[in-house]
Amino acid sequence: MTTTIALIRPSLDWLPAYEHALAQGWSPNTDQDVSREQLEQLRRGPEQFLHDLYNSPTIRLPDGREVPRLPAHDFWISDGEFCGRVGLRFQRGTEELPPTSLGHIGYAIVPWKRRRGYATQALRLILPVARTEGLSRVLITCDDDNEASRKVILANGGVPAGTIPHKARPGHMKLSFWVPTPEG
Ligand SMILES: CC(C)(COP(=O)(O)OP(=O)(O)OC[C@H]1O[C@@H](n2cnc3c(N)ncnc32)[C@H](O)[C@@H]1OP(=O)(O)O)[C@@H](O)C(=O)NCCC(=O)NCCS
Repeated sequence: MTTTIALIRPSLDWLPAYEHALAQGWSPNTDQDVSREQLEQLRRGPEQFLHDLYNSPTIRLPDGREVPRLPAHDFWISDGEFCGRVGLRFQRGTEELPPTSLGHIGYAIVPWKRRRGYATQALRLILPVARTEGLSRVLITCDDDNEASRKVILANGGVPAGTIPHKARPGHMKLSFWVPTPEG
């Protein structure tokens, strides 16, 4: 039987567990490895780090550009211990995303908690949050060789929505899927 997970609000209480995961080399972002950079910022000032992580007015893209932060709901994943993160970002009143944002939802599980169905559950748990923001479906993308993420998306009803060339990995594609959100 799969252990049940919970989506929890990022908090100072859980920050030591988040720090531990970074120290093991885990990157909460998947488009760039941010583990070392985040670890340094966290150790400089935990409270400021946590605030900026989810509330800074802008975010830095992998190419270095700063763009405005979209409205978002960010969660950490717990099975009693820290397991990873899942987040929703969106623009109010539309399912469109700016070109700098490839999908509405991103997730990353720490390596030692993988293959337990946690990402599949985490996506299932965040879909109603998207619904409450007026989204009847969300766009999620993954690399063409990310079998695990593709399965997570398909297990949640993902419908293929096309492919685009991968900007950072020549020869690879990004797969897009629309995932329906549950009716209230
Ligand atoms: C992708 C990721 C989130 C999956 O997390 P997870 O909690 O291990 O996923 P689940 O346990 O819910 O597994 C979902 C399915 O993928 C399969 N799977 C998991 N890891 C796999 C792997 N390395 N290779 C192939 N299949 C894998 C599982 O067996 C399961 O298949 P099933 O539904 O047929 O049983 C995790 O590997 C991760 O954090 N990777 C790095 C970050 C990342 O790629 N994020 C997604 C960006 S789009």
